[in-house]
Amino acid sequence: MGLFLPCVLLLSVSTLAVGFDLNLGPKPVGQSAFVKRFNLEEKAANIIKRSLPAWLAPSRNHQMKRRSADQGDSCKAVEGQVTKLADNTHRYTFNDLSGSVSLAWVGDGTGVIMALTTFQVPFFMLKFGQSKLYRSENYGKSFEDVTDLINNTFIRSEYGFAIGPENSGKVILTGEVSGGQGSRIFVSVDFGKSFTHKDLPFTPLMQITYNPEDSNVLVVLSNSYELWLSEDFGTSWKRIHSMVCLVKWGRKNTIFFTTSLNGSCSDRGMLDLRRTTDYGKTIKTVATKIYSFGLGGRFLFASVMTGKGTLRMIHVSVDQGNTWNMAQLPPVGHEQFYSILAANDDMVFMHVDEPGDTGFGTIYVSDDRGTVYSKSLERHLYTTTGGDTDFTNVTSLRGVFITSVLAEDSSVQSVISFDQGGEWVPLRKPANSKCDATAKDPDKCSLHIHAAYSTSMSLNVPMLPLTEPNAVGLILAHGSVGDAISVMKPDVYVSDDGGYTWIKALSGPHHYAILDSGGLLVAVQSSPNELVNQIKYSTDEGQCWGVYNFTDDPIYFTGLASEPGARSMNLSIWGYRDSFVSQNWISFTIDFRDLLTKSCSDNDYVSWLAHSDDISDPNDGCILGYKEKFLRLKKDSICWNGWDHQVSTVPTPCPCTLDDFLCDFGYYRQENSSECVEQPDLKGKVLEFCLQGREEQLQTSGYRKIPGDKCEGGKMPARQEIDLSKRCVSDLVGPELLTDTRSSKTVFIVIAVLVVMLLSTAAGFVFVKKYVCGGRFLVHRYSVLQQHVEENGAEGMDDPLETDHAQNGKIEFHDDSDEDLLE
Ligand SMILES: *[C@@H]1O[C@H](CO)[C@@H](O)[C@H](O)[C@H]1NC(C)=O
Ligand SMILES: *[C@@H]1O[C@H](CO)[C@@H](O)[C@H](O)[C@H]1NC(C)=O
Ligand SMILES: *[C@@H]1O[C@H](CO)[C@@H](O)[C@H](O)[C@H]1NC(C)=O
Ligand SMILES: *[C@@H]1O[C@H](CO)[C@@H](O)[C@H](O)[C@H]1NC(C)=O
Ligand SMILES: *[C@@H]1O[C@H](CO)[C@@H](O)[C@H](O)[C@H]1NC(C)=O
Ligand SMILES: *[C@@H]1O[C@H](CO)[C@@H](O)[C@H](O)[C@H]1NC(C)=O
Repeated sequence: MGLFLPCVLLLSVSTLAVGFDLNLGPKPVGQSAFVKRFNLEEKAANIIKRSLPAWLAPSRNHQMKRRSADQGDSCKAVEGQVTKLADNTHRYTFNDLSGSVSLAWVGDGTGVIMALTTFQVPFFMLKFGQSKLYRSENYGKSFEDVTDLINNTFIRSEYGFAIGPENSGKVILTGEVSGGQGSRIFVSVDFGKSFTHKDLPFTPLMQITYNPEDSNVLVVLSNSYELWLSEDFGTSWKRIHSMVCLVKWGRKNTIFFTTSLNGSCSDRGMLDLRRTTDYGKTIKTVATKIYSFGLGGRFLFASVMTGKGTLRMIHVSVDQGNTWNMAQLPPVGHEQFYSILAANDDMVFMHVDEPGDTGFGTIYVSDDRGTVYSKSLERHLYTTTGGDTDFTNVTSLRGVFITSVLAEDSSVQSVISFDQGGEWVPLRKPANSKCDATAKDPDKCSLHIHAAYSTSMSLNVPMLPLTEPNAVGLILAHGSVGDAISVMKPDVYVSDDGGYTWIKALSGPHHYAILDSGGLLVAVQSSPNELVNQIKYSTDEGQCWGVYNFTDDPIYFTGLASEPGARSMNLSIWGYRDSFVSQNWISFTIDFRDLLTKSCSDNDYVSWLAHSDDISDPNDGCILGYKEKFLRLKKDSICWNGWDHQVSTVPTPCPCTLDDFLCDFGYYRQENSSECVEQPDLKGKVLEFCLQGREEQLQTSGYRKIPGDKCEGGKMPARQEIDLSKRCVSDLVGPELLTDTRSSKTVFIVIAVLVVMLLSTAAGFVFVKKYVCGGRFLVHRYSVLQQHVEENGAEGMDDPLETDHAQNGKIEFHDDSDEDLLE
């Protein structure tokens, strides 16, 4: 028994390092491998050794019952379901031999699906291709071949569909004109019913992007790095700028882009960040020496060279680049990167890569200004090479995030935070699961979630964790139960309370989908080389599953498709059939409405307190200063929420405690204390802040509300404002400058100039700066509880600005992996 060596997912470090700040650069494919883990005993993962906080201890049952008392735990089969489903299954066979199909939903609740298939053969240096276009108006139950709308032009499948924002009904397809003279786009303004074509005066390098606030305005980079803009939905184009490296839409019609003066986008760290708010009529340079930039919530971030070697730092602006502050984050070298894992208008999760090719870094969470950061999670897994992180915003419950850490033995382990990164803990072991061979103690282990990293390692994990804001509390994910993520066959786990408790729902890997706002879950077993003819469905959030054979003639299954937003009750199963002569695409669309039989009434819902721990505690359920009660479907209710179902919640504010505050710049929390005390030795650190701090930020009482926290009354921290600007003057500048009191602004400028001079001359300053920004100074956490967790450490990485993994309602299926090899 002792000889058994379990397989654990380990990180294998590769030597190739590429900086991709703010997740904007190219992401080369990582070269990683699985290794067997040998001395398991010796290096047990430290995160597992931590005892669970009391509220997570398995003995306490803090779940509010949503199942009616008389119903047991046994699943009883509902009669007559199969005929109901059989009557509502629609098959559509595509007379199409192509290797891949892209799907896009056009509009919200319109039922319009466009399907694009491309058949591509590389032939010497040329690629020959053929595209076919199909359109459905009934959620995929039937399609019409509308290839003539694109006049049989070859559509560049890597760009796929560009679907307009909101419900604009706009669609753009980018085609190739034979002869390589420019490109042609096909545009539709009527949900894909008709298309007109426009010839472009350039060849696009990327997918055309819409102004999120005005779908008539488009921008795109050409293959010669020119920035082109159209204000009339692609009819006329104007060239706005040359040598543009990266372009992004900001708010209020703002376009941000980086440009290279030297004419080389690989000249990172020498770029200018420019902005136009009037579609290119006037262009303003808002920052220089830029390595990269990103947008998240109301924040604009730029990584800027410090002028000291290859180090760069994050600068933040909350006014579209007019004024900047330096983020109090450690600087990084050329082999490291920053990444924005998630951001909203309140705060940002930022990953800072560790020096060296370690595969991990640290997650920091920002204050409401985006400048002062608290360390949230160490040893956070984020591979430099692949750019893969498991960081997941659990959108079905406020404040919940899941990610992975890299333990010291190189095993990958999952952690969850219920308070927006304040504290991270292992996931509780599902009650109906046994610890696998990775666990030292067969009774004590935790759940580990497979996410992007496992996918990048080519494990059979067909889907990332799935959550939907309108399916309150629900999480579906692949995982394993042990001391670390296992490479063995993953199973599907479900949580109905935002990640506090889990059950094993299905054995083996599955594709899954959430329908009818969580009232219905569906899943199809994923086994690459096996034919499939069964779909599983659950009306009680994954506890009981029914099985339905949707066809007698099994298919090679490629994926599930349902309208984004999880409101639909129509689900399509995509796949193909293999015969000697052809490999036709086929889709089965099932309308589950009849299965649920009736519309939900008030009796079908029950009140549920989110984050509930102890019902007798008046502060039960308080997270970030308020608690929320939701009306949720009873588990045993079989009815439809309907497409228009709204999540109803009753938020109530909680009294404040010191844990609702974080320590401001220059303050820290001592171990086991909630009080923020002034940093004893502020010399040098004040200097740093004076340099970067704007006037309003130089006043501090030591505490700042945690971003998004809405507590009221209760214990407020003693307010004792200190004026850091006075210190700036007295500590740094000679008394002669103190006489200059015309305005504090001029003083700052003088100081800034002085310090710039200092920077270039005094070697000692570099040391101070490193000390200040190297991490120690900023190790403040939301709550005292965290302090220990931090010490044992798991680091975090940061992720792209595009925090949403679902690609705008688009799904791509490949029917064979060889296709990928041809590229
Ligand atoms: C397709 O070609 C025909 C004839 O050449 C032309 O009239 C029509 O506008 C074209 N349709 C599109 C969508 O480009
Ligand atoms: C770009 O210009 C800077 C100075 O302006 C110079 O140091 C650098 O070598 C140039 N890079 C290239 C690729 O020409
Ligand atoms: C996480 O997702 C929720 C729901 O979509 C969103 O409201 C929230 O702003 C996100 N949080 C962050 C930090 O991005
Ligand atoms: C459903 O399909 C499976 C094979 O995938 C078969 O074993 C089973 O008998 C079928 N059930 C019915 C009711 O046809
Ligand atoms: C399912 O599809 C039908 C059209 O075939 C549509 O009328 C119905 O509204 C759809 N149901 C949902 C919940 O989207
Ligand atoms: C903090 O609390 C922990 C556990 O209660 C204890 O082990 C530790 O010694 C305390 N640290 C200090 C500095 O008091």
